[in-house]
Amino acid sequence: MGTPQGNHGAVAPQWFPGATTPGQGGDFRPLRALGARGLLQLAATTSLAAYAVWAAVLMPGFRRVPLRLQVPYVPSNAQQVANVMGLLRERTGKTADLGSGDGRLVIAAYKQGLRPAVGYELNPWLLWLARYRARRAGYEGKVSFLKQDLWKANLSDCYNVIVFLAPSVKDPLAAKLLAELPDEARVVAGRFPFPSWTPSSTMGQGLEQAWAYDMKEVRRTARSSTDGCTL
Ligand SMILES: C[S@@+](CC[C@H](N)C(=O)[O-])C[C@H]1O[C@@H](n2cnc3c(N)ncnc32)[C@H](O)[C@@H]1O
Ligand SMILES: *[C@@H]1O[C@H](CO)[C@@H](O)[C@H](O)[C@H]1NC(C)=O
Repeated sequence: MGTPQGNHGAVAPQWFPGATTPGQGGDFRPLRALGARGLLQLAATTSLAAYAVWAAVLMPGFRRVPLRLQVPYVPSNAQQVANVMGLLRERTGKTADLGSGDGRLVIAAYKQGLRPAVGYELNPWLLWLARYRARRAGYEGKVSFLKQDLWKANLSDCYNVIVFLAPSVKDPLAAKLLAELPDEARVVAGRFPFPSWTPSSTMGQGLEQAWAYDMKEVRRTARSSTDGCTL
């Protein structure tokens, strides 16, 4: 798996197996008539168009976020939502989805009684969509979607944190959560686990798997492994 370097357009499809590159597996017959020059032109136009779409539609609001911390929008599917919510059953208190996309996890969390339910999102289109979905579900004014960089959010009063983000940001994210969350907090990671943390439980299989981490336990094991090194 590559690191998120290079141009924006190339980043998204590599990270998430669900995403495909436009034209992949398609019908290439019309291209035969184009010749090499035509093909080059087509490639240039296509990647420019892909870049324009990426910058203007898919990643607006991200200009101030370092490229290595940018995560594209890939919504959770119904099974992933169910697994995340299953790991938050019986829990209470403030719940945040870091990078809330179209708001489906925040709305599901509120429905399950997790309140307040907050989503952090930078993409204005997705914020609009999330607020629209909340209104349609009858939760206007109940759930909130904040146009805020998740890396700058103060999470010290969050008791449940949902993260559905790329593996490349897991290390800085682990450091932030360790520094800010209360001991009683539970972190639920969808799709990708935290490589250096021990989960307290997990649900689902394959692409749908989600992991729950209890901060007290994460801190305890982190401490004991450090102790192990110094002995
Ligand atoms: C993989 S999607 C997950 C969306 C949603 N949580 C879900 O599961 O359906 C990640 C989302 O995080 C948002 N995001 C990425 N970096 C962010 C940042 N620094 N601050 C706020 N949102 C961010 C993206 O715009 C995208 O919508
Ligand atoms: C986050 O908020 C808490 C409570 O309001 C405060 O004590 C703490 O200093 C804040 N942390 C940062 C990094 O601003």
